[in-house]
Amino acid sequence: MIEDLLNQDRDHLLHPLHHPNSHAHPLIVESGEGIYLHTVDGRTLIDGLSALWNVLVGYGRSELAAAAQQQMSQLAYCSNYAGLANLPVIELAERLAGYAYPDLNYTYFTSGGAEANESAFKTARYYWKRLGKPDKVKIIARQDAYHGVTLAAMSATGIAPYWPMFEPRVPGFLHIVAPYPYRFAGDVRDGESIGEAAARALEEAIVREGPETVAAFIAEPVQGAGGVIVPPHDYFPRIRQICDQYEVLFIADEVITGFGRTGELFALNRYGVQPDILSFAKGITSGYLPLGGIQLSDAIKEVILTAPPAQTWMHAYTYSGHATCCAVALANLDIIEREDLSEQARVMGGRLLAGLLALAEEFDCIGNVRGLGLMCAVEFVADRETKTTGNLAGPILKACLERGLLTRAKGESLLLAPPLIITEEEVDTVLGIVQEAILSVIGER
Ligand SMILES: Cc1ncc(COP(=O)(O)O)c(C=O)c1O
Repeated sequence: MIEDLLNQDRDHLLHPLHHPNSHAHPLIVESGEGIYLHTVDGRTLIDGLSALWNVLVGYGRSELAAAAQQQMSQLAYCSNYAGLANLPVIELAERLAGYAYPDLNYTYFTSGGAEANESAFKTARYYWKRLGKPDKVKIIARQDAYHGVTLAAMSATGIAPYWPMFEPRVPGFLHIVAPYPYRFAGDVRDGESIGEAAARALEEAIVREGPETVAAFIAEPVQGAGGVIVPPHDYFPRIRQICDQYEVLFIADEVITGFGRTGELFALNRYGVQPDILSFAKGITSGYLPLGGIQLSDAIKEVILTAPPAQTWMHAYTYSGHATCCAVALANLDIIEREDLSEQARVMGGRLLAGLLALAEEFDCIGNVRGLGLMCAVEFVADRETKTTGNLAGPILKACLERGLLTRAKGESLLLAPPLIITEEEVDTVLGIVQEAILSVIGER
């Protein structure tokens, strides 16, 4: 029976990032509960990455199913194009006004993160065209950024393996160095911090390209798929100043960091910084249904609302403001608020990080441990001094899975971002599995 399922899958299903080698022994998941997944062959696994960072409230929340059922029975969906609306989308837009940042009070909904970023890029260009600056079209992103993989989002994504088989990329997208303290690829001047040096790379890129050609800078507050890259504290305040100085819009891609993951409801609040455009997705529904969107500053809202008809914001998706997705988002926000999950992420993330730092004391093969809230990474090296890499993350990932912990790696970094409802005991179980997995791998060497 399981063999039949596997054959049907192999014969008929093209998966994201598909290569037959990576799909030789797929796990087929049948159900989930809390932080656990149950597979059809009877295994129980801890979901160490909340699926794709998104299942914040954990699996099996029947109140989200009830919200969907109620809304589907009443009105599953209808168009939300200008001239129409539905009840949950209005309630959600109103609830989200000022929710992330005080100046962001106007929301456009998408079905996911890449669509959100596409909407952000188009809106940035639109804004400058409306203000009589039609040449401000370029988007500056960062190396190791992940912004999705539709064509423009892929062009903003700074992880190079996503590009070659889909070239050419959309013109006008460029990348600067990431604020990655452990392996900073930029130059640091005397007296300058890494955060300042990484932000200077933005200023230099804007000046080199010509500020009159740059529409926006996009950044994840903590780079997720790029390897949980946590920026130095002085980075984003400086980025905000540079964007203001050169009239470049700042797009915060909080598709992962939004709704509590980093221990703040939205991550840039930690630095006292507000973006002009916010992209969100994933956590807004905890993955129970697809939903994303952008929030726009009051200045951008004003420009859209005062446009002559010939300059209408001609951007649209069939599923923008999907009634059932919005109803589930509202119920999901109830859970996040009621259970104070951003505080939970802060506390449990602190425990996870402390445990990982203790493992770094124990094992020389750990070169770097980093994290913010429940977003952590352990980076393995062959040699601590030279930071040269071996081939450790792959075998350790496999050893984790054998011991009941499912997660992903980026290069030599093992990523950990479990659901925000994880308990102390469960954090300790995760740490124990990682410890045993490392031991099993380095013991074999
Ligand atoms: C920061 C970030 N932005 C955008 C995306 C793309 O989202 P989606 O896969 O829903 O298009 C992701 C997905 O992982 C992401 O992590």
